[in-house]
Amino acid sequence: MYLTKEEERMLEGEFGSGVAYSMRVLTKLGDAMDAERMIKPVSSHIVSLGYQGYGDLAKWCKDLDEKMLDDVKQFRISATTNPKFFKPEDKKLIEKFGMSSSTVEEIREGVNWSKKFEDLGAIPAYTCTPFFVYPIRKGEHLAGAESVAVVMYNSIYGAMLNRETGPTALSSAVTGITPEFGMHKPENRYARVQVDLDKALKPKEFTRADYSALGYYVGKIAMDRNVVFTGLPKDMSVGLLKTLLAPLGVSGAVMLAHVVGVTPEAPTLDDALMGRKPEEKIEVGKEQLEEMYGMLTTTTEDKADIAIFGCPHAPLEEINEISQLVNGKKIRDDASFLIGTAEPIKVLADRMGLTNTIEKCGGLIVTDICPHLFFNPGFIDIELKHSINTVATDCTKCAHYVSGFSGGKIKMKYGSVESCINAIAKRGD
Ligand code: F3S
Repeated sequence: MYLTKEEERMLEGEFGSGVAYSMRVLTKLGDAMDAERMIKPVSSHIVSLGYQGYGDLAKWCKDLDEKMLDDVKQFRISATTNPKFFKPEDKKLIEKFGMSSSTVEEIREGVNWSKKFEDLGAIPAYTCTPFFVYPIRKGEHLAGAESVAVVMYNSIYGAMLNRETGPTALSSAVTGITPEFGMHKPENRYARVQVDLDKALKPKEFTRADYSALGYYVGKIAMDRNVVFTGLPKDMSVGLLKTLLAPLGVSGAVMLAHVVGVTPEAPTLDDALMGRKPEEKIEVGKEQLEEMYGMLTTTTEDKADIAIFGCPHAPLEEINEISQLVNGKKIRDDASFLIGTAEPIKVLADRMGLTNTIEKCGGLIVTDICPHLFFNPGFIDIELKHSINTVATDCTKCAHYVSGFSGGKIKMKYGSVESCINAIAKRGD
């Protein structure tokens, strides 16, 4: 691929070994994808399992990060950060789960790796929904990993980026460039799979769990192909769009999903298809949604040990809805519920009194972390005050990963926020 004079100097090591290593990563990627040149993204969303993982996994990834960061004093472009494995400063969370101080210290050592990124200029967003805190204009190029961020920035903001890996995202932050291929090229952004809703479905009455199940079903069929949804309400909020689109990158690897009449590149169906015929048309009805509920639910128990919301991280509207639902209720003493969000969103939730309502019920709003990794036996083996065998959630990504990472040991109860709260509520509440 063509490299400018400066890019060649970076590759040859003139700017240090970390820059040269990162250039090798990006030129190999560019060559593999037939890119002709590099372009300059405005930002990169960094996912590092060096601080998002635990144990050997974190160590191996940190070793790789170190190679890319050797001699690097400052990232060349703006960068945001994905959630950490755990937040050792969150005393409420530690107390609620009865974590020992030795476990907390061991985790602290691992997640402290994230400070390195902050020192190089990364914005300490620690969220999988950077689009709620770092907005982007239509047509701007980005680099980065985290499937939710990719599908949302592409589809809802009209930004242009590919589904990348942790190492390529970090390489872009280090070098300030990314190879031009895939979603960076306007001609590749047309929809190949058209999704129509059965007329009997009433999406205006959908719960978040229904929207998430719809996205999960479509992702399984679309795989890595661009999608267009027809028949969805024109007034869907960005929060609901996040709920619908996030699962497309979990059951599939979709990077761009147009919603006709809603998303920037799809005022009409024809615009989304760029005048072509769809390769495949899917009709989704009640039966397909029920199939997803059945697939994601792996327990017949009524009760759960914990309910998890905010995977991907919840915007204010979602926290507000949950807070209204739990207002005046109490959950069992041996149960808990967590809502994952970004720190700036929690600051607003605190000011609005939502955090107080949630804590009075027995729940916690947690920031900077994935709300379900730290108790998963697939990652960590620790004693908690109350054992967690069953998780209730309205997020397909959470159901998919908790069950998958634990090798099926943790059972899932998939459903609406209301049904999840019922599964952990005190009798009579
Ligand atoms: Fe976000 Fe963690 Fe879920 S990164 S999408 S809360 S798995």
